[in-house]
Amino acid sequence: MKKIFLNLGLQPMANNFAIKSKNKQKFYNLKIKFDNKNYLTSISKIIPSKNIYNSHYPYLSSMSKTMQVSFKNLAKKIKNKYKPKNIIEIGSNDGSFIKYFNKKNALCVEPCSNLAKLTRNKGYKTFNNFWDYSLIKKIKKIIPNVDFIYSANTISHINNLNTTFDCIKKILSKNGVAVIEDPSLLESFKKNIYDQFYNEHVYVFSLISLKKILTKYNLEIFDIDRLSTHGGSLRYYIKHNKNNKLKINKKVFIQEKKEIKFGLNKFKTYIKFAERVYDSKKKLVDIFNKIKKNKKRIIGYGATAKSATVLNFCKINNKHIDYFLDTTPYKINKYTPGSNILIKKYERKLSTEDCEYAFLGAWNFKKEIFLKEKDFLRKGGKFITHVPFPGIIGKKFKNKL
Ligand code: TMP
Repeated sequence: MKKIFLNLGLQPMANNFAIKSKNKQKFYNLKIKFDNKNYLTSISKIIPSKNIYNSHYPYLSSMSKTMQVSFKNLAKKIKNKYKPKNIIEIGSNDGSFIKYFNKKNALCVEPCSNLAKLTRNKGYKTFNNFWDYSLIKKIKKIIPNVDFIYSANTISHINNLNTTFDCIKKILSKNGVAVIEDPSLLESFKKNIYDQFYNEHVYVFSLISLKKILTKYNLEIFDIDRLSTHGGSLRYYIKHNKNNKLKINKKVFIQEKKEIKFGLNKFKTYIKFAERVYDSKKKLVDIFNKIKKNKKRIIGYGATAKSATVLNFCKINNKHIDYFLDTTPYKINKYTPGSNILIKKYERKLSTEDCEYAFLGAWNFKKEIFLKEKDFLRKGGKFITHVPFPGIIGKKFKNKL
């Protein structure tokens, strides 16, 4: 049975950056539910994929050093440990991962045509398609036995998990490995990361939820990596359950135990999370109101998709935040969805002359950003964050750099 545990209010599409201020947005009610049969946590209203993943999808993986390092390390590990003869990436984005593999043996799948163009231009065979049965038929003609499948921050965006995993099952060679990585529900709950929920994140997975669905397709998780990306992610290594060559690493059992101990199999844990989220909202709004009462300037740092959830849920808008700074070309000179805050191009390091406070929209890249902006912090500039708790990070932080 599916039960709603959190109501994040009226939300726009998180990546719908508006061209004009006060641009009309379509809002929908973002509610989050838990299914106690398969342990899946999902958003209650699904927006059709073709309305989101089209010719102007803004997110580029290469915009973050953290992700680049993560991809580079994984590519090295895959080559050394699994030595695949070929590899497919589902959701290849701008090619930040696949670039480490030989063009002759790699294949990209990317439904956003603006992104598919990027890997095609670099010489990679790229299918501008969604991951489904008709696509795997086409792929099988080129690579009948796929040795390795990789997909980062993509499977959680796909509504139909049955088709997704059935297609993986059908195309993966006997000894093949599929690796998927997505934000971890356990980490999201521990750190009160409620902005992991927005229209593109249909699911936030736990190991126990993925295990249930994979069993249906005779697939099995045999290893995991715990990652710091996106506030805490899990990388799942998946094999056919008949493949006994790959042994199940004890890390899998440890993670499963942790999730059960935390109560991810019980609805009351979800209700408690929601209570913390409503409390977090109150505290964040208080912080903004106090700063504005003192007539200090606040800007936003990183107009992330996640921040759309926070800003619209907490009703923080251009009365609170003067403008956002962001590095993604597509977002520049547009307005944040719903909250209508102008996004300016990040051209130089932040100065205390720009603002006294910067709201950390890209909190998931906090380490990278604080290192970059250490002078701002040293000179008394402060960051506002809501993760794990609403608060202000200032000078004191410099000692930890
Ligand atoms: P994401 O959280 O959805 O991955 O989006 C990250 C956004 O933050 C992306 O638009 C780029 C932006 N960003 C900056 O503007 N400055 C930075 O230093 C970093 C790491 C990200």
